[in-house]
Amino acid sequence: MRIAMGTDHGGFHLKEDLKARLTAAGHEVIDFGTDSDAAADYPDHVIPAARAVADGTADRGVVLCGSGAGAAITADKVFRVRSTTVHDVYTAHQAVEHDGLNVIALGARVIGAELAWEIVKAFVGAEFTGEERHVRRVGKIDELDRLRS
Ligand code: RB5
Repeated sequence: MRIAMGTDHGGFHLKEDLKARLTAAGHEVIDFGTDSDAAADYPDHVIPAARAVADGTADRGVVLCGSGAGAAITADKVFRVRSTTVHDVYTAHQAVEHDGLNVIALGARVIGAELAWEIVKAFVGAEFTGEERHVRRVGKIDELDRLRS
């Protein structure tokens, strides 16, 4: 799977850790930075990562910041991106299966590397079920997305 990643300084070290694990697991990571723990603005790195998912350059996105909030708020504003902050394994797969989550946001100051990896594995391993009720609900979200784009 092609996975776009983007973070500010708050998530830099966790991004590096997850990137190494994803690569070792056979995924292709497209890294939009940041590339050090020097202060950076999360939109500068999260927006290009989210756009890569929206335009099909990447299949999924993993974005980070200190809390996961700024990254999710930013990514979810990109047309065709559905993003939220996830800090548990159940939501990591259920949000893909039911809600079509395509960009997951993590707070590197909230969770540790091992839980983050379990969450990312659940996220990349999940698929949208395609069940009618979920297609209908996601369709309503997509319609709102189109109206505001
Ligand atoms: C950076 O200090 C911090 O504000 C940022 O990483 C993030 O938590 C914002 O949501």
